[in-house]
Amino acid sequence: MAAPPVVDLPIVDERLAQDLASGMAAVEKLLRSSVETEDAFVTEASKHLIEAGGKRFRTMMVLLAAQFGDPTAPGVVPGAVVIELTHLGSLYHDDVMDEAQVRRGSESANSRWGNTVAILTGDYLFAQASDILADLGAELIRIQARTFSRLVQGQIRETIGPRSGEDPVAHYLNVLADKTGSLIAAAGRFGAVLSGAPAEVEERISRACEAIGVAFQLGDDLLDVAASSAESGKTPGTDLREGIRTLPVLYALQEPGESRLKALLPGPVAEEDVDEALALLRGSSAMAKARQELEAWADRARRDIVDLPDIPARDAFLALCDYVVERSG
Ligand code: IPE
Ligand code: IPE
Ligand code: MG
Ligand code: MG
Repeated sequence: MAAPPVVDLPIVDERLAQDLASGMAAVEKLLRSSVETEDAFVTEASKHLIEAGGKRFRTMMVLLAAQFGDPTAPGVVPGAVVIELTHLGSLYHDDVMDEAQVRRGSESANSRWGNTVAILTGDYLFAQASDILADLGAELIRIQARTFSRLVQGQIRETIGPRSGEDPVAHYLNVLADKTGSLIAAAGRFGAVLSGAPAEVEERISRACEAIGVAFQLGDDLLDVAASSAESGKTPGTDLREGIRTLPVLYALQEPGESRLKALLPGPVAEEDVDEALALLRGSSAMAKARQELEAWADRARRDIVDLPDIPARDAFLALCDYVVERSG
């Protein structure tokens, strides 16, 4: 099974393309060395997903945001590694929670070594991130702490579901902003702060990245329904099996009348019904409606990005918005 490719943007500016390529290479090197330890098994378990692939989408955000200050500033590459390690640790834990068997086209850590090893390896990755972060100063430590607080609260609220009387769509969009938007916003903010970009640019980039993050997660939810395992590197229908009501499911449940799809969707979908539920969802108007919501979030991001200083990285951020929309089909 192929791992999802590193995010590939159409960058025309040669200098920017070079900066991104060298930044990506430096991040990759530090990422791998940052998890090495004397214990060969811990090193193996933590390198497992790093080597399996991943798009390095958040690294790209850090590097692009750093273009608005001094992209060669010494904290930029370690900052990107902190973000990527935080993301990675959250994936080890997420796959335990979602009982996912496949990640990045490879066996998930929980599937390979069991939940205990997967949870502790995730914790180890967070510890390694904190070690690097300590050298970047209190401001960055606080941004990361608040981000992580939002991320886990988003994961908790996804698990608990809406409170009685709470609008499920509003609840869900808040969950996405917290569990995914927060870290992608932090990636943009890290790049801006660590490169010494102006405060106004930092705020704008962070806001735009959060909207891109929500769009990205909405795309991920659509791909859970529509993409094959070879395309996503994950198992289709994981959200349905876990009973996670993503936006297409919420919209399908809001449709008037009775239907086979509505009968299948409410709780965790039984293994023998997953293929049927996926096929019915793919053909439903709920998918198109969820895609419109995704596009609205990408537009929201674009409205902030167009007011950034006119440098090649601004166009690259716009291309990133296109990428997020196109990725989900
Ligand atoms: C997966 O993120 C988790 C989500 C927030 C959707 P990515 O889709 O960025 O995962 P990798 O890093 O490319 O594997
Ligand atoms: C992942 O959410 C969000 C975090 C890891 C914080 P999902 O559970 O929707 O992502 P995938 O589909 O497993 O990558
Ligand atoms: Mg998951
Ligand atoms: Mg999850």
